[in-house]
Amino acid sequence: MIFFEPHNRDKTLLPHNPWTAMISPRPIGWISTRSSAGEVNIAPYSYFNAVSAIPPVVMFSSDGWKDTLTFANETREFVWNMATWDLREEMNLTSANLKRGASEFDFAKLETAPCQIVAAPRVAKSPVAFECKVVDIIPVRDVKGRKLENTIVLGQVVGIHIDEQYIREGLLDTAAMKPLARLGYREYAVIEQVFAMDRPPGG
Ligand SMILES: Cc1cc2nc3c(=O)[nH]c(=O)nc-3n(C[C@H](O)[C@H](O)[C@H](O)COP(=O)(O)O)c2cc1C
Repeated sequence: MIFFEPHNRDKTLLPHNPWTAMISPRPIGWISTRSSAGEVNIAPYSYFNAVSAIPPVVMFSSDGWKDTLTFANETREFVWNMATWDLREEMNLTSANLKRGASEFDFAKLETAPCQIVAAPRVAKSPVAFECKVVDIIPVRDVKGRKLENTIVLGQVVGIHIDEQYIREGLLDTAAMKPLARLGYREYAVIEQVFAMDRPPGG
């Protein structure tokens, strides 16, 4: 085993920061937003997760003040779309840094579908999408209380879209949807195989 403090790694052994490779796999927050002026945006965020079930709340973290954060802050709404193996190229294209107002949906030739409650569109071919209302926007700080580059957006899920072809005997067939996960460096994983375990008694 080696040990190091994060700011002090041996760069001859680990020339590239291994941070994201160690927090693997991460679900991908493929976030669509609409500005108050009506501009539409979508981008992937792998600092993404669920943080509450009842009611459902999700979070993503923006490294700098990007369009997704700007639009979510303006309209207090966003949409999470599941990124899947079939949509991997499109997902990757939507991470392009386009100028404000240019839609990544058009750039990636991604079909949109309307939402029911929020104004932003969703990805038509994503098997699952969440319509979210912003609950909190929180700057990330270090132990000295200094603001870092990242900002967390927490959103309550107010509407859920599911492609019913993936519902089998009352359960969602996760492996059939082939969700993507982000690893480190240029790597991704795709969930195609799953296994189940029963909890221990009292677990
Ligand atoms: C799979 C993947 C995951 C990403 N995760 C994040 C993330 O968690 N936070 C972040 O700030 N940028 C992340 N990025 C980069 C953004 O997607 C990229 O900066 C994008 O241009 C932001 O778009 P926006 O300005 O339209 O919001 C990720 C990119 C990819 C391809």
